Amino acid sequence: MTSAEIDLTVYPDECDAFGHLNQASFLSLFERARWEMLARGPGMDVFSRQDAWPAVRRTVIDYHAPAFPGDVLRFAQALTHHGRTSFTMRQTARRTSDDRLIATAEFVFVCIDRNGRPTPVPKDLAEFLSARPAEPPGVSRMTVNGVSLAVERRGEGPAVLFVHGYPLDRTLWSHQVAHLEGCQRIAVDLRGFGLSDAPDLGYSLPTYADDLAALLDALQVDDVVLCGLSMGGYVAFEFLRRYRERVRGLVLMDTRADADAPEVRRARDQQIALARDQGAAAIAETMVTRLLAPDTLRHNPTLAEQVRATMVATPVPGIAGALAAMRDRPDSTPLLAALEGLPTLVVVGEHDEMTPPAGHEALAASIPGARLAVIPGAGHLPPLEAPETVTRVLAAFLSSLG
Ligand code: MLT
Repeated sequence: MTSAEIDLTVYPDECDAFGHLNQASFLSLFERARWEMLARGPGMDVFSRQDAWPAVRRTVIDYHAPAFPGDVLRFAQALTHHGRTSFTMRQTARRTSDDRLIATAEFVFVCIDRNGRPTPVPKDLAEFLSARPAEPPGVSRMTVNGVSLAVERRGEGPAVLFVHGYPLDRTLWSHQVAHLEGCQRIAVDLRGFGLSDAPDLGYSLPTYADDLAALLDALQVDDVVLCGLSMGGYVAFEFLRRYRERVRGLVLMDTRADADAPEVRRARDQQIALARDQGAAAIAETMVTRLLAPDTLRHNPTLAEQVRATMVATPVPGIAGALAAMRDRPDSTPLLAALEGLPTLVVVGEHDEMTPPAGHEALAASIPGARLAVIPGAGHLPPLEAPETVTRVLAAFLSSLG
């Protein structure tokens, strides 16, 4: 048990006539878990010491399974958003006997003073809950569109915006961000991934696209070469539907334009349930071997481990939100012909099993003037599996733009 976990026992008087823990009691258990955690940490008076009171502004609870008298529930709490005067806390309750996920809750608080005016969140609280790991050098955090996004920026000149796939983060593009010369490289963690905020709700392709547009506004970047891998490609299509004038070049990597078939949509729902029940590790288990080419798995176990670790660290709300966003995405094939005049490069790993090369030949053929580059030996993640080749291919594409 960590310092942010508390075990509480369900009492009979908290249960309804059917013997289930009732909803009002659930709410008070969540609240009690928070106060117990404060009592063990910075102290129950962490708010009053600073003349601040955490007023609840919004609560979302998902009930996953019933709990009964005598069950011991382990409540884990984490800060998923830490603003100046507001913060969001995510709590989960699991039964200790079988590790079953019983409920998850998200609470949004605003700290107010005696006069009801917003006041800063006590520092001790964020420190105790260690809202998120410190940003590595070169990575900053920007609050846009209601969330705090982690973004890495390097270089000067025309901008290239890198959008990662699922369930990964901006480190997919580490080599390109470090070595692609002559341009400003911007790699972002989409909401729900990496070091960005992971709210419980509010995921969709339009939201991801709006986040990116707001990020570019905040960075004072007018237009970009947009480079998206897999889910990043789906986001790129949505961005083009909404902000076509901000894109002056396009790179679609290991992705597809069509929508999910019915059986894929059903599989997304199963993955959402798996993530909620068993966490990100279970998702990683089903994906690592499909993402990387057989040669990468054989010869580069360190990379396989790095990809697995990135997935395991992805917050469950981010995973579930992305799966729902991908499931609900529209067919982007009608957009392709309309991309005439937009310099476009389609890239695919030679051994990509998830979005195979044949689909990319068709994709490139449907976009007027698009070129296709096949990356030898790579699977679904060429920027990691063949980093130098991808950086070289991108450099050639950028220099062709003038
Ligand atoms: C990705 O790599 O982003 C995902 O595998 C895309 C998908 O699941 O459709």
